[in-house]
Amino acid sequence: MASLSRTIPVPCLTARFSFLPLLLLCSPPLLVLSQCTKPHIIFNFGDSNSDTGGLVAGLGFPVNPPNGRTFFRRSTGRLSDGRLVIDFLCQSLNSSLLNPYLDSLGGSKFTNGANFAVVGSSTLPKYVPFSLNIQIMQFLHFKARTLELVTTDSGNLINDEGFQNALYMIDIGQNDIADSFAKNLSYVQVVKRIPLVVTEIKNAVKTLHDQGGRKFWVHNTGPLGCLPQKLQMVQKNDLDSFGCLSSYNAAASLFNEALLLLCQELRSELKDATVVHVDIYAIKYDLIANATKYGFSNPLMACCGYGGPPYNYNIRVPCGQPSNQVCDEDSHFVSWDGIHYTEDANFNVASKILSQAYSTPGTTFDFFCRS
Ligand SMILES: *[C@@H]1O[C@H](CO)[C@@H](O)[C@H](O)[C@H]1NC(C)=O
Ligand SMILES: *[C@@H]1O[C@H](CO)[C@@H](O)[C@H](O)[C@H]1NC(C)=O
Ligand SMILES: *[C@@H]1O[C@H](CO)[C@@H](O)[C@H](O)[C@H]1NC(C)=O
Repeated sequence: MASLSRTIPVPCLTARFSFLPLLLLCSPPLLVLSQCTKPHIIFNFGDSNSDTGGLVAGLGFPVNPPNGRTFFRRSTGRLSDGRLVIDFLCQSLNSSLLNPYLDSLGGSKFTNGANFAVVGSSTLPKYVPFSLNIQIMQFLHFKARTLELVTTDSGNLINDEGFQNALYMIDIGQNDIADSFAKNLSYVQVVKRIPLVVTEIKNAVKTLHDQGGRKFWVHNTGPLGCLPQKLQMVQKNDLDSFGCLSSYNAAASLFNEALLLLCQELRSELKDATVVHVDIYAIKYDLIANATKYGFSNPLMACCGYGGPPYNYNIRVPCGQPSNQVCDEDSHFVSWDGIHYTEDANFNVASKILSQAYSTPGTTFDFFCRS
């Protein structure tokens, strides 16, 4: 059973037919892929790409329908119509979805880890909620408090061994680059800030390692210049052959090169740690460039937005307004709201992540909970 299910993901990579059979083919392995023998505990740090409700819990900002219209059938605070990549990754372990750390009404169920990611987060500035540094500080508090309570708790809290064996995931950087461009910094100035951003990620990994964490999973950033929001708002004098902004993508790529180098550096510096780097950029750029092959249409147009083609994005009518123009539920869009991906697209991305083809080293996602 296990070996059979582990051979199934291959068609996900080679299938060239329509999206529906692809989904059916790929669904079962996502659910039964895991060969965990240890508890699968995950701590995640990041921005809206992996926020499972932190912004709503932390600041009360509403995330209105049609967000959540797929799968959950209600808004969960995720900026998508359904599940995020991290949700699919959790499901691949047969694990329950990660609760936001700030969700005081989540039943305090932090038995499988916690999600510190919050919409809009960046690495810099360092001391504003909910920068990466603040998220790490929240984790330090979470860990200290949990270990304080675990001695009196009869079983549900994560113990010291749990913290050591856990997977620490980081997916941040998109907002650092986007914010630099939004402040009208020149391309050269945007690029100049990249080493500072990467240093923050390095500090985060080292702090977690000092705390006993040994297993790290780092996502690089996607093609920023392909987001309908950017395409709508920025002067389009540098479009590439797929219609994306070259300068934005070039800056994202430079950040990604620096992040890849950082992961190599961390691997040689922290000899007892496993640091897996995943090339999200390649996965997402392929999805946009080859959208038709994967069964997607209009890869540069938001499903939920305003204004119609080509981008269906208007900053004054973001997704969640009554006057939105929203695509049909059975249409396959890449972009949900002009910035974030649809559940369909997130499923495609998660399948590729699980294929190991985009990971360095090529490690299975469940490596941290195998014996
Ligand atoms: C998945 O989890 C459920 C309950 O949490 C359990 O009943 C089931 O056996 C698990 N499946 C696998 C394949 O581990
Ligand atoms: C950036 O430049 C644009 C056009 O040149 C201008 O409309 C906008 O207000 C500027 N933004 C900032 C933050 O300075
Ligand atoms: C699109 O698909 C082709 C064929 O699989 C591949 O060679 C190419 O790299 C893909 N494009 C991108 C931008 O990933």
